[in-house]
Amino acid sequence: MQDFLERILITEEEIQARVAELASRITQDYKDKNLGLIGILKGGVVFLADLTRQIPIPHSYDLVGASSYGSSSTSSGKVIITRDAEIPLSDKDILIIEDIYDTGNTLKVVRDLIEAHSPRSMEICALLWKEKKRAFDIPIRYIGFKIPDVFVVGYGLDFNERYRNLGYIGVLSAYLKTRNE
Ligand code: IMP
Ligand code: MG
Repeated sequence: MQDFLERILITEEEIQARVAELASRITQDYKDKNLGLIGILKGGVVFLADLTRQIPIPHSYDLVGASSYGSSSTSSGKVIITRDAEIPLSDKDILIIEDIYDTGNTLKVVRDLIEAHSPRSMEICALLWKEKKRAFDIPIRYIGFKIPDVFVVGYGLDFNERYRNLGYIGVLSAYLKTRNE
């Protein structure tokens, strides 16, 4: 086991199998629509890159940027938009692609941002869904995995900008986490 990890939560094989399942559901659901994927920087990029290549129907993708202030491993609730979509969205059925649904603050802000573009429709796909109490609920149409309320890294998810490159998802070592809170 790598020393920055407590344990591996989801293996690379499990992620790839689930991405293929989600992609096939999305392909089916959007075959008569005008699909546009919107990934959220930076964590959603790896998931978006794998997902888009598993969806054979014609579609576009773009990226929006959102970042939340706070320490490395807790959400502050203050989210700022750092990049807006560049392609027109009003003719598209938008599917927002996010790495993780934690407090939901990011998704709330991004959803409002996308809504301002008046897309034909808008749904959310999140690879991870943390089991926790939230101040508000956001409906997520496609969920990869439900996970416990622990801090995870890998497959786009970072701790101090590191570990995004891992093909799997692991629980960060408690020692590293407490040093930065
Ligand atoms: P939110 O709390 O739902 O707004 O999540 C905000 C952002 O925090 C997510 O998009 C992730 O980039 C990041 N985040 C939340 N939980 C984790 C985690 O367990 N590991 C790494 N990043 C996380
Ligand atoms: Mg982060």
